[in-house]
Amino acid sequence: MKNYKIGLLRGDGIGPEIVDSAVRVLKAVGEKYNIGFTFTPYLIGGAAIDACGIPLPQETVDGCLSSDSVLLGAVGGPKWDNLPGNVRPEKALLGIRAAMGLFTNLRPAKLYPALKDECPLRADIVANGFDIMIVRELTGGIYFGERGYREGKYGEEAYDTEAYSRMEIERIARVAFETARKRNKKLISIDKANVLETSRLWRKIVHEMAAEYPDVTCGDMLVDNAAMQLVRNPSQFDVVVTSNMFGDILSDEASQITGSIGMLPSASLGDTTRGLYEPIHGSAPDIAGQNKANPIATILSAAMMLLYAFDEKAASEAIVNAVDKVLNEGLRTADLARNGATPLTTTEMTDEIIKRL
Ligand code: IPM
Ligand code: MN
Repeated sequence: MKNYKIGLLRGDGIGPEIVDSAVRVLKAVGEKYNIGFTFTPYLIGGAAIDACGIPLPQETVDGCLSSDSVLLGAVGGPKWDNLPGNVRPEKALLGIRAAMGLFTNLRPAKLYPALKDECPLRADIVANGFDIMIVRELTGGIYFGERGYREGKYGEEAYDTEAYSRMEIERIARVAFETARKRNKKLISIDKANVLETSRLWRKIVHEMAAEYPDVTCGDMLVDNAAMQLVRNPSQFDVVVTSNMFGDILSDEASQITGSIGMLPSASLGDTTRGLYEPIHGSAPDIAGQNKANPIATILSAAMMLLYAFDEKAASEAIVNAVDKVLNEGLRTADLARNGATPLTTTEMTDEIIKRL
């Protein structure tokens, strides 16, 4: 029997609850499909700050690098909000992405037919549904540029800088073109080339590479327009490629139009099969520890891990289908429940998904 070593980064807020849900689902699907898992937890974020004073202990980095893949919950919370930037919980997330070389962030956002009524957009706008794959650059740009404080023209001043090298743009664009090739051969590259130099280089390189992919229809869109188009006509998008910061913002917008931010999984990938899988939502401190969180984004992240890291297609599909079934049957956690319907708890939703595997 195959056995995969999975590092668990539970993190903060609802992180522990949703990771534990996904672990239960993985164990259950593993029994069915004869796949073994060894789970090893490591500290990250606020939990690591509380235990050892820093958000990303070396032990955690080493542990992740020696795992076959990593599942993460979320980091951050009000308790650590006033710490300086370089010791904040969020810094750990950037640190682990960089340490593992995870330059690609895949964030699929699709409208489940069962959740059409939860979508805040008008029915005619989403009549055809949507199924978007956001390919977000994850280890460059303004997130990782030079930053600091200085005396400026008006006194005290802070600055952050965005830099993108040809190499960084080429490798993320390549992932996007290959992804488009496996889907509907439609790629939109999102930038701010009317203002930013990094975007102009980005656009130039994407155009150069488009020549290598004549089978893929490739277009550009300015990010402000993209933000508008996403709510005006989301079905025009298939694969989207964009920078770290634009991808962060647009993926939250995309998640909202699926009905709930609690639905979106993600895969962060590099040059090896060792990736990091996490929901795109945050630690939701307001509902932490209450067994209320929607575990679906994390459970779907585990399904992405089975597919991308381990090529376990059948097991991955079983999870995706089980999620489809619970939604089609009208089962909802609090974020999705409406009209006085009694919502399922995190554990109940997890149980229902496991029953349908
Ligand atoms: C995300 C999060 C992170 C990001 C934060 C917590 C650093 O918002 O994964 O989208 O901005 O990448
Ligand atoms: Mn984000």
